[in-house]
Amino acid sequence: MKNLTNLSLLSITLWLEDVLKIDDTISFIIQNPDNNKNALGFKAWVSLAELHYCRLLTPEKISNSEIRLYFKKLNQKDSFHTEVVQQRAEKYGTKSKFFNIDKNREPTFLLAYKKALEAVKIEERKEVLNLGINKADEFEFIRELIGESSFNRINFRGIDHSKTALEYAKKRFSNENIQFYQHDINTISKLNLPKADLIISIGTLQSPSINYKPFLMSLVQEHLSDNGALILAFPNSRWIDGELIYGAKAPNYNYSEMSLLFNDVIFAKKYLQQKRFRVTITGREYIFITATKIRS
Ligand SMILES: C[S@@+](CC[C@H](N)C(=O)[O-])C[C@H]1O[C@@H](n2cnc3c(N)ncnc32)[C@H](O)[C@@H]1O
Repeated sequence: MKNLTNLSLLSITLWLEDVLKIDDTISFIIQNPDNNKNALGFKAWVSLAELHYCRLLTPEKISNSEIRLYFKKLNQKDSFHTEVVQQRAEKYGTKSKFFNIDKNREPTFLLAYKKALEAVKIEERKEVLNLGINKADEFEFIRELIGESSFNRINFRGIDHSKTALEYAKKRFSNENIQFYQHDINTISKLNLPKADLIISIGTLQSPSINYKPFLMSLVQEHLSDNGALILAFPNSRWIDGELIYGAKAPNYNYSEMSLLFNDVIFAKKYLQQKRFRVTITGREYIFITATKIRS
């Protein structure tokens, strides 16, 4: 059994790279960090597992000074990012790999979303519009956060082009205050919706089908009320084999590269500031832009 107790982080990394070329599950001995303040802590081991595209399995305590750890390689082919679909609108439908993902179980997503909802004072909003609602996880969390009676005082509208995802969402919410629209977000004006006082869009505006910059500007100008707020989130991560792996996926790179992400985030921030919004950028695996109107 490999003992990593006295190795530097670089030596550990090089050893992991080597053995993971051959084995799918590996185990090794480390110092018990509870009893040795110079030992690498579990946070470091979780990061190492993620950076080597592995899942950390349940550790075993061998003695007060030693622990046995297991890393299991993620199946990198098991990802909706690489899934090929016949119908574009069903890329995120009930049969897709994406559909099994539950972002609401990811602390780095959920806590950032919670903060954003608190910043826009969600309970005081009357008309909430969600673009790319899919199976309506984002509404489900609002219901849990503010409770059923406050939730029922707000009108919620969700748009998506996936028929199957919306069918699922409708079964989940029979509430009268929620409407779902199967529609192309690009032609949202045709729906003649009332202006929203909160627009939420998570993981959607960078979609290849949407011309992000002009679309964002028209959204603010035509679909948001004078005192309206926005919560936009952009993935800085990929879903691989059920795990949320940090770092934006970029075309032409086989590692995470964030230029496109930063470009889109900064565009939104600058544009919204010009329009007299107070804008914050928060989050980690999902980068949140939260914008609220500056009162004059
Ligand atoms: C990556 S998913 C994000 C879904 C959800 N907000 C979440 O984070 O779990 C993007 C969603 O936007 C929808 N979508 C993408 N482009 C669209 C378009 N042009 N019109 C309508 N829906 C679109 C997809 O069907 C999908 O449900």
